[in-house]
Formats: sequence, structure tokens, C-alpha cells
Amino acid sequence: MSSKDKMLITGGHPLVGEITVSGGKNTAVAVIPAALLCNAPCTIENLPDIEDVYALIDILRLLGAKVEYVPERYMRIDASGVTGYQVPYSLTRRLRASYYLLGALLGRAGKAEVAYPGGCDFCSRPIDQHLKGFAALGAEIDDRRGVVHAKTDGRLKGNDVFFDVVTVGGTINVMLAAVRAKGNTVIYNAAKEPHIVDLANFLNSMGANVKGAGTDVIRIRGVEELHGCNYAVIPDQIETGTLMIAAAATRGDVTIRGCIPTHMEALTAKLLEMGVRVTENDDSIRVRPQGVQRAVNVKTRVYPGFPTDLQQPMTALLCMAQGVSTVCETVFEQRFKHLDELRRMGAKIKLMDRTVLIEGVNELYGAPVTVTDLRAGAALIVAGLMAKGVTEIYETSYIDRGYVRIEEKLRKLGAEIRREPI
Ligand code: EPU
Repeated sequence: MSSKDKMLITGGHPLVGEITVSGGKNTAVAVIPAALLCNAPCTIENLPDIEDVYALIDILRLLGAKVEYVPERYMRIDASGVTGYQVPYSLTRRLRASYYLLGALLGRAGKAEVAYPGGCDFCSRPIDQHLKGFAALGAEIDDRRGVVHAKTDGRLKGNDVFFDVVTVGGTINVMLAAVRAKGNTVIYNAAKEPHIVDLANFLNSMGANVKGAGTDVIRIRGVEELHGCNYAVIPDQIETGTLMIAAAATRGDVTIRGCIPTHMEALTAKLLEMGVRVTENDDSIRVRPQGVQRAVNVKTRVYPGFPTDLQQPMTALLCMAQGVSTVCETVFEQRFKHLDELRRMGAKIKLMDRTVLIEGVNELYGAPVTVTDLRAGAALIVAGLMAKGVTEIYETSYIDRGYVRIEEKLRKLGAEIRREPI
């Protein structure tokens, strides 16, 4: 990846004010392919205007869908003309979630040929559980030369699917494949993330019969056909969390509007434990400083545990907390590429197996750093906001994959942050 610009942050300005969070990235990347399951137009609102969304638009158009997209307003997808079922690597390499095309196309047409996904490169991207789920529904899977070929003669058949590991992508993919299968599918050991519930709501508003999303057993009664619908995706849990962390990091006073506070409980609990003031309303969260911020221990877990997607920004925040913190990553074993960059900024961090040991320092200082993946980018922004002097952040396009004009939002809150061509 090679970005055309760099981000420049002059740290030390407390973030103050109100900001509205955008629609959820990880829900958008599931809901957009899901629109392939029906032959009538679906209108989706509150989509985040990010690179992953543009990559999906290109894929849907290649397959024959009509897509009308008005950023910040709506996307209208009409899949009635879709005849394609092949997605090449030149497109799937642009986003991790391209694997959802497998479930959506299998569910739609009983066949799919989709190249292995790309996206942020912080770990290998196994999809064995997805494929196992498709096979349980009767798909024949052939996995060669980086392309998954999946097909069935006729309709998929509902079945029990037991996941060996809790997988967000696998759960979503099997849901996509199963909603139009013949008979009932039961997914055991399903992931429970908010975007799984959101996808289930979207599918049900198209006439699907999905029950239990948000628990570890999801029951799907297959239906013959789905119909068009209007739907608005939920706010982005990880953007909300990143903004909460940024507010705490700069000892600011920020109210984040349009979010769902119950999705944030794991982070809120940790911030409170650190000594940060967090107050909640129905759809807003206010984060304020209050004295010294103490070191804490964090372990990432599947929802409702502490999200792995906030592990990296949280690590940045803890670099200046008083005492020694630990951050244990249990979901993705190699999600640590941000650590070297934080060290350049003066962080005292040691990695032991899957646990980061952080000795809080009094000061971080600006330095040139490089983003290696989306949430590493969020971590470097948080560190840059805290640091003395100027932080130059390279490879910003990773950040644009998942955050909607983050520098504009932060600037509105008082940050000194801008982009400059390289
Ligand atoms: N796994 C397997 N086999 C599989 C699938 C997953 O072994 O078939 C393992 C993975 O290697 C990992 C664990 O299971 O160790 C969990 O992976 P999961 O499938 O839950 O993750 P994912 O679906 O690939 C989604 C998000 C990620 C987020 C994780 C965890 C999307 C597009 N991606 O990934 O988001 O970190 O769930 O919540 O929804 C991000 O937003 O920056 C991001 C990477």
C-alpha cells in the first residue's frame, strides 16, 4: 500500500465539544453484500463513507447490480440483474470482508467463486470455519490457487453448524448462505457482536426468518425469496470507542452523539477503572478527565468482552497512564505491529507472547511513524494527540478504510491535525 498523503498532528490539545459518530463499518460490509440475496431494490442508510464501502460498490457492479450511492445519505442496491458469481483478487484484495461475497452469492445463486480476501495485514486470515459452514449446508467446496469455488446443485439445505472458534465473519457468512436455504439452520457457538444482530435485523426486514442473533445460538428458517427494504445500519462501535479513548488521552471533555452506550460497556468499564469520568445517556457518551489516569489490565475477548479492534488505541492511551499496564490480545495473535511505532514516540513497551507490558511514561514525543493496519492507525493518532511536538503519520490510506474523515472530526474537537501530500 502506498498513500498519497501523510497526517500531521501537533499534540497536546485537549479535545473538547460534541461529535456524531458514523455508521458501523463492520455492519456495512456485511449488509451491502446481503442485498445480493434479493431481486428487489434495498435502500441502506447511515453507511460510513469509507474505502471498504467503495470497494464493495465496485464488486457489486461487476456482478451486475445497479448501485446508486449518495454518501452520507443512502445507497440503493438493485441486484435483480445480477448474473455474475466470480470476484477476482484484484477486487477482493481491497478488503477483508470480501469473504462475505461467498455467503451472499451462494445464498443467491448456489454458486460462487471468490478470491481470498486482502485488507489489513495483521494476521493470517483463515476462513476454514466459513467453508465448514457452507459444506454443512451442502455446498461443494474447492479451494485452489487462492480462489474459493463453492457450488451446489439447486438450493443449499439447512443444517446444524458448530463453530470450533467463535468467528464474526464465519457467523455472518453462514447466516448469509442460510437465509434462502431449504429448511432450518442452527448456528452453535455463534459470535454475538452488535453487527451480527444488525445484519439479522436487515435480513429479517427483507423477509428472512433469523432468530437468536446476539446469543450464541442462531436459528434460521430458510425462505424461498426475500423482498426489498429500507434499512439504517447501527453506529460504529469502534469509532465510538476510538473517540472515547482520544478524549481520555487528551484529558478533554467530549460528548459522542448518535452512539449506543450499551455496546461500549467493556471500554467504559476500563476507562472508569483508569479514573476517567464516563457518563451515558440514551444515545450519547461523555468522557471527561478526573485526576490521575491509572494503569489497568486489559484482555481482548469476543463481544461483550473488550474488543480486539480497540486493543491498539487502548495500548496507546495506557502509554501515559500511571503504573504498569498489561494488554493481552487473545483474538488475533499478531496484532502488535503498532508497538514499534509507539516506541519511536517514547513509549516503554515490551511484548511477551501475546501480552504487552506498558510502563507509563510522563511524556510521549512526536516522531515520524508508519501505519501498518487500520487500528494501528487509530493507535498512532491517539499517541500523536497526546505527544509533545509533531507526529507525522505515513500510510494513511489504512485509516481511510475504516474511519470517516477522522481528521475533520478531531479538528472540530480542537485537535491540530491536517494532511499534506507526500
Ligand atoms: N478464525 C479461524 N477460522 C475462521 C475464522 C476465524 O480460525 O474460519 C480465527 C481468526 O484467526 C481469529 C478469530 O478466529 O483468531 C476471530 O476471527 P473472526 O472471524 O471473528 O474475525 P473476522 O470476521 O475476520 C471481524 C472484523 C474485524 C474484527 C474481528 C473480531 C469485519 C470485516 N472484520 O473479523 O475487524 O477485528 O471480527 O471482532 O467485520 C477491524 O475492523 O479493524 C477488523 C479487523
